[in-house]
Amino acid sequence: MSTPFRSGAFRLSPSDYRALTDTARQNPEAYWQTQGTRLEWVNAPSSAQDTGNGWFADGTLNASVNCLDRHLETRGDQTALIWRAEEADHVVRLTYRDLHARVCQMANVLRAHGISRGDRVAIHLPTVLEGVIGMLACARLGAIHVVLFGGFSPEAIADRLADSGTALVITANVGRRGAKRIPFKTTMDSALSLRPETLFVRSVLVVSVTDEPVPMQAGRDEMLTPLLEKAEASCPAETMASTDPLFLLYTSGSTGKPKGIVHGTGGYLTWASYTHELVFDHQPGDVFWCTADIGWITGHSYVVYGPLSNGGTILLFEGMPSHPGPGRWWEVIQSHKVTTFYTSPTAIRALMREGNELPRQYDLTSLRVLGTVGEPISQEAWSWFDDVIGGGRCAFVDTWWQTESGGIMISPVPGAVKEKPASATLPLPGVHPVLLDDKGQVLDGATEGVLCLDGSWPGRALTIWNDDTLFQTTYLRPYPGHYFTGDGARRDEDGYYWITGRVDDVINVSGHRIGSAEIEDALAAEHAIVESAAIGIPHDLKGQGIVVYAVARDPSHPELEMLAVRAITAKVGRYAAPEKVYIVPDLPKTRSGKNVRRLMRKIACGETDGLGDLSTLADPEIVDVLIRIVQG
Ligand code: WT7
Repeated sequence: MSTPFRSGAFRLSPSDYRALTDTARQNPEAYWQTQGTRLEWVNAPSSAQDTGNGWFADGTLNASVNCLDRHLETRGDQTALIWRAEEADHVVRLTYRDLHARVCQMANVLRAHGISRGDRVAIHLPTVLEGVIGMLACARLGAIHVVLFGGFSPEAIADRLADSGTALVITANVGRRGAKRIPFKTTMDSALSLRPETLFVRSVLVVSVTDEPVPMQAGRDEMLTPLLEKAEASCPAETMASTDPLFLLYTSGSTGKPKGIVHGTGGYLTWASYTHELVFDHQPGDVFWCTADIGWITGHSYVVYGPLSNGGTILLFEGMPSHPGPGRWWEVIQSHKVTTFYTSPTAIRALMREGNELPRQYDLTSLRVLGTVGEPISQEAWSWFDDVIGGGRCAFVDTWWQTESGGIMISPVPGAVKEKPASATLPLPGVHPVLLDDKGQVLDGATEGVLCLDGSWPGRALTIWNDDTLFQTTYLRPYPGHYFTGDGARRDEDGYYWITGRVDDVINVSGHRIGSAEIEDALAAEHAIVESAAIGIPHDLKGQGIVVYAVARDPSHPELEMLAVRAITAKVGRYAAPEKVYIVPDLPKTRSGKNVRRLMRKIACGETDGLGDLSTLADPEIVDVLIRIVQG
């Protein structure tokens, strides 16, 4: 069933959209050159796509100038950023002029600490102003930011600091989650003390979110606020090559080691700007609220770079949807007249449980575009969001993309592409998805297969930090001639895409990517466990939950499950805690010793009818043993 077509005062009509799609297909070079002009360049690029060397390769620019300086003349007094603190009555508004000054001050502090072009700076913060400011300050100096999600464990942080060769860290004394305090600084201290011989961190700058004192290491740690206050409010911007890295962002794949995805400057920023304008129908006066943490790619592209490069107004909210009560988000939308609201299916599922009465107590009529990202959304959650929150008036964009793509790839365009509930619909102009069978043959028409992308696009990641070979083998080698996304999809008779989920061993918990191998590696380090397998199974609230099968060295050990959970949360983070740990005598394996995940998944889901041919297993009897253990 499709919803009635909503054409309001949207920027694009269906025929505009068709014209863009046609031009992008017929003359990609000219199309992307035109899109490149949405940025302000120091030296304009002579071509868009170069052979091999990335996008707009001979262009030079600075990303912070594109997000700040170039708006000063036309909209210096416009609000760039509204920061809503945890306390309901605390709001900070920064105009473009204010934000520019704050970013310059931060850049000067970083420079005084020896940071210059190419250096890596880690940002490990709750949702406070210094996060956005820190990112743009790095961009101003040509330093490469590495934003670390607040939920990472010290182990996970240490791995990323070491791999990136980070020289300076910006963190906070604590983060606030409702009444709780999250110990950012002490988590960072633990990370820094784990394997000091692998680290290059010289300075730790600490934001005071509250008055709580934290231990400071002399010679390494400093409070940031006093340094910022003394700093000069202007700072020249470095001229960067289009293909110089703007940031690294770590994400999970099918190996145990997280990959530092490298995004460039000109191509990435063009993509962030292009997709933000197109997908969210960006118009003057919009108040754009993307609820993602800046620790994820969504926060990079749609809290910071997309909306600010387009001169928009962003909202940042420090608090949680459920504190002090479950109406908090609706109150934020009402008080700041949010027009564009971009969030996750996980959040929608949680808010849906609170019923329809609560959101109806708020005036949500400022909303005109609703968006979701990160995981498949059910038709039920789609319709609830559309109807109860959007009042049936809003454009709805279910956006499919990934850390590696830099920005949105498949999504409706408001006013131009008719929605179908729970479908990501059609590729954006210039994006060319294909579906392949497992032999790598391209499938036509209405079908289902592995989702790949043909050709390149400006937002595509440049490489994996320190490991270009892994970039080639992960994305370009599996289906030669196509870029492999790791997802499966169905295409219907209208050419619409319906993402079915990962086809590799990546588990998507509340929109967070976790590799099975990351969990298995964490358990391999726990002496009491000999072997394990981590599996994703459907979960009502989180989308997917993690189930672990573990073989114990001594099955009579009384605390195996607790040890397993602790090993995972210590190595990866609390967000990767499994729903269930089953201690089993063995794992189902083929005769060549390969774990049969398909069977473990079916057993964990209770789908024990039709387990298929078990004769290829080394020990078919293990299947009944597992079923008995799981069914308890
Ligand atoms: C994976 C990428 C994209 C920014 C946030 C996550 C899944 C993403 C959708 C969607 C179904 C989706 C895919 C993808 N995913 N968007 N609209 N419908 N699945 O970025 O951490 O790199 O994860 O998230 O499986 O591969 P990420």
